[in-house]
Amino acid sequence: MPLDMAKSILVTGGAGYIGSHTVLQLLLGGFRAIVVDNLDNSSEEAIRRVGEIAGESRENLTFYKVDLRDKGALNKIFSSTKIDAVIHFAGLKAVGESVQNPLLYYDNNFVSTLTLLEVMASHGCKKLVFSSSATVYGSPKVVPCTEEFPLVAMSPYGRTKLVIEEMCRDIYHADSEWSIILLRYFNPVGAHPSGHIGEDPRGYPNNLMPFVQQVAVGRRSALTVFGNDYSTTDGTGVRDYIHVVDLADGHISALRKIFEDAETGCEVYNLGTGKGTSVLEMVAAFEKASGKKIPLVIAGRRPGDSEILYGSTIKAEKELKWKAKYTIEDMCQDQWNWASKNPYGYGSPGSTNYK
Ligand code: NAD
Ligand code: UD1
Repeated sequence: MPLDMAKSILVTGGAGYIGSHTVLQLLLGGFRAIVVDNLDNSSEEAIRRVGEIAGESRENLTFYKVDLRDKGALNKIFSSTKIDAVIHFAGLKAVGESVQNPLLYYDNNFVSTLTLLEVMASHGCKKLVFSSSATVYGSPKVVPCTEEFPLVAMSPYGRTKLVIEEMCRDIYHADSEWSIILLRYFNPVGAHPSGHIGEDPRGYPNNLMPFVQQVAVGRRSALTVFGNDYSTTDGTGVRDYIHVVDLADGHISALRKIFEDAETGCEVYNLGTGKGTSVLEMVAAFEKASGKKIPLVIAGRRPGDSEILYGSTIKAEKELKWKAKYTIEDMCQDQWNWASKNPYGYGSPGSTNYK
């Protein structure tokens, strides 16, 4: 029996987009997954479907509808189950909303992480994988971004990521029994190839591909392209899109390192593909995969957007032994498969998920 067969992983935010895909990969990889989510931006249906895809492994999946700031409830979970490690996805992620309502973000993202880490420490659980973001690189002068680049907060959302990264480094320096991996994600897109789970944002989608997907299924009339006067090949912004299943697998690789390497310390890794793709290139790839025309409205630049952002993946390849496998075509194919099977995500036209 492999070493990790019996490991129990607490996954905060496990009902969300990246969380649900990671929970599935955990179950398929022989781990036990204990999901804690307040369903603020997700649906329990995602968890049900993860169980369905996982088949017999679904018996290793437990779900608690709990807010991470509820220390009593969290303590109870840690008391009733021996947790070997935590993957911490839970948080709010809308950049514009964080500018409008910073206190909400400091409370939800920072206070909940503080509470989680306190509970982990008091139960002697000192292994953590945390969802950071490439937003901490701001608008770099050169690309690809390496993990050593200077860090900057472009919004209260980004600042919560920076502060939590710093907090993790402080905790490790104070107590070297901690093993912490901070993963800086680039732009996750796509869905599980089954088409049963995928991204289902509440309300107006802020990110490119959820918007494109809603245009394709007829929920929105056109995609607004934010700027076509950047110094890029076609003038539109360039990003490092990564298939969500590759991203999920990156977490399994991070866990393996934590369990197998006692010297893990507190380390940071980029998870991306190392390649840049423009908005128009993404739209063209999606049109090809879906056979749908995406009408475009060219608008001005979105405040706070960087021109070109993609990451170096050398450190993750070397130290996590992980590399993204899926292409842009795969990402669009799987995104369309999910969208066409679930045009209203986990909800229906009349549900609160649809605005
Ligand atoms: P998501 O909104 O789909 O998932 C987050 C989950 O956390 C949701 O299910 C939500 O209900 C839950 N949650 C939020 N606050 C909570 C709380 N206080 N207690 C319990 N549960 C709570 O988002 P996602 O895209 O899956 O992102 C996961 C993580 O990755 C987030 O931390 C996000 O900031 C980070 N990230 C995402 C992206 C991206 O483009 N999706 C990029 C970089 C980093
Ligand atoms: C955005 C956030 C970033 C966050 C990331 C993941 C901003 C300024 N940045 O990054 O902090 O970590 O999401 O949640 O919000 N685009 C359009 N039309 C759209 C949507 C996007 O043209 O309707 C363009 C953008 O200008 C950009 C590209 O598509 O060039 C990707 O945008 P998006 O998916 O929002 O990701 P990021 O900007 O990388």
